[in-house]
Amino acid sequence: DISLTEQARDVLITNDRGSYTVPTAGLYPYQWNWDSAVAALGFAQFDVERAWVELETLFQGQWADGMVPHILFHKNDPGYFPGPEVWGCEGPIPSSGIIQPPIAATMAHLVWQRDPEMGRPRMAALYPKMVKWHSWIMRWRLHRGAVCTTHPWETGRDNAPDWDKTMARMDASDVGEYTRRDTSHVNAEDRPTKYDYDRYITLVQLGRRLNWDQAAMLAQSPFRVADPTMTFTTLRAARDLVKMGTALGEDTQTLEADVARLEAGAATLWNEELGGFDSRDVHSGEWAGCLSNASYLCWFAGVENRVMLTKLRSIMERVAYPVPSNDPDAETFDARRYWRGPTWAIVNMLIGLGLADMGHEEEATDLAKKTAHLIKEHGFAEYFDPFSGAAAGGGSFTWTAAVWLAWAG
Ligand code: DGY
Repeated sequence: DISLTEQARDVLITNDRGSYTVPTAGLYPYQWNWDSAVAALGFAQFDVERAWVELETLFQGQWADGMVPHILFHKNDPGYFPGPEVWGCEGPIPSSGIIQPPIAATMAHLVWQRDPEMGRPRMAALYPKMVKWHSWIMRWRLHRGAVCTTHPWETGRDNAPDWDKTMARMDASDVGEYTRRDTSHVNAEDRPTKYDYDRYITLVQLGRRLNWDQAAMLAQSPFRVADPTMTFTTLRAARDLVKMGTALGEDTQTLEADVARLEAGAATLWNEELGGFDSRDVHSGEWAGCLSNASYLCWFAGVENRVMLTKLRSIMERVAYPVPSNDPDAETFDARRYWRGPTWAIVNMLIGLGLADMGHEEEATDLAKKTAHLIKEHGFAEYFDPFSGAAAGGGSFTWTAAVWLAWAG
């Protein structure tokens, strides 16, 4: 579909701020970590040079200890809350103090494949930075080999029911007054509730009070959940770093050991009773009991699972536009509210890439077709109602356009 491909390019070009891309104007006016990695893959389909610049800009924000923040506040924009003054992070570029799913290495690997010769020096320069971020995650975020999130925003799945039990134990009564900006850009029904936001902001305030010191946060934060998003994306990143390192002639022994450790960690997320990969609260040891779209990222991580494959086949029948971010039969399901039900094209792409890698071509093709249909009918929305396909959240969304260019279209 030539006209849709042109429109998708236009979305990327319109959201391009020169050396980085915003997820969408208004609602998300800065550089977001995993959005940006997907933008790079989108650009790589028509402008490989620009794709490298996107990744290079992201790593310009890397902290001295290796952390790569979830938001880089390149240029102040009062239309977003919480901005740089709330986070209080200096860094090489003002930023948030948390991370996001580390898919940058995987996206960089795919970008490199678009033009191996041209990309080689760019990759050689980026590789040590990516390894450094990966080592930071291995150092600070593991629990029994699974990767933990320290804030719902780190997973990107902000208001997923995965965090409900952990959030319910949190005290957010001291959060104080603040003004949300998100609900002035898009429908409040599509967004997390005030109850959730009070807890998001409370966690930011805690991180700031502790100067974003990882050891202090590990000891004091009430929020630490081992989750499929962080675990599967980190495992996949480790595998891709091994491949890229090997191609560059680097020693990859440590990374190979990381792969084994993360594989063992991924196995600890298997909730037998649920029959799926689940989130586990590190403090209470309790399961979240949630089958989300992140549960289906196992193949992306190179983890085979027949039970998940059966579940995938049935969810593909159950809703017109899979994969929903929450089980439609769960009490917490809400077809419009962000990560409590809607379908996200970006997660579909990661699931689809994984399915294809693991030899499940039929399912991969089916999911790509359904995602293409969804985008054709309902546009480059942030997310979609899995039953009606209705667009929700922000429009002209960078990663939905990138998914069209790189995978679905
Ligand atoms: C937001 O502001 O809603 C974002 O999801 C935080 O990353």
